[in-house]
Amino acid sequence: ADLRPFADHLLAWYDRHARVLPWRVSPQDRARGIRPAPYRVWLSEIMLQQTTVAAVKAYFAKFTARWPHVADLAAAPQPAVLGEWAGLGYYARARNLHACAIRVSEEFGGAFPQTAAALRTLPGIGDYTSAAIAAIAFDEPAAVVDGNVERVVTRLFSIETPLPQARKDIRLRTAELTPQERPGDFAQAMMDLGATICTPKRPSCMVCPVRPMCRASAEGRAEDFPVKKPK
Ligand code: ADE
Repeated sequence: ADLRPFADHLLAWYDRHARVLPWRVSPQDRARGIRPAPYRVWLSEIMLQQTTVAAVKAYFAKFTARWPHVADLAAAPQPAVLGEWAGLGYYARARNLHACAIRVSEEFGGAFPQTAAALRTLPGIGDYTSAAIAAIAFDEPAAVVDGNVERVVTRLFSIETPLPQARKDIRLRTAELTPQERPGDFAQAMMDLGATICTPKRPSCMVCPVRPMCRASAEGRAEDFPVKKPK
């Protein structure tokens, strides 16, 4: 099947409806091809791993005001970093955050490595986060799969295999859908679609930009996906 129209429709929707978030560049700058600083992409993606967008906003503002660059964060005493993190939970994330800032400053001269494979070697950066940073900050067409994307993709293709078994298939399908141009916008468009339209309960299929390409919606059973293994 020709999957290109999917990315085109989704990106056209994103250009009109992208959520305005502190770690994104403005739509005007995005149209000029300006990318957000890797430090800001990394920091936001670490914070968003187990915390909602609404809760992360204030913490992101505090961290970037106090430590504008990765070298500033690396130079901070660990207790200061853990103190600013207080309330976000999962403190291993904060310790890894600080360790990662130190590694980037000491081993990479203060510049984040630019590929998902290299990013993956840093503390606190796994499959999801490495792909997200590579796509958003460095335009690598990496498959970025989070819970939102799993829901969107299982619905698009009516994937009946339950999670977690379906993960490999979902990753392959996401890779096939990801365009060579604007992969970072594509990844964030998938997240926004999952957060605002392709929601877990009562999805808004009638206003979905990719409804004509969605098998579950055509079958009137979007809410049935993703299928989860009974406990
Ligand atoms: N959740 C994780 N990463 C995100 C991003 N870049 N934008 C919105 N929600 C997200």
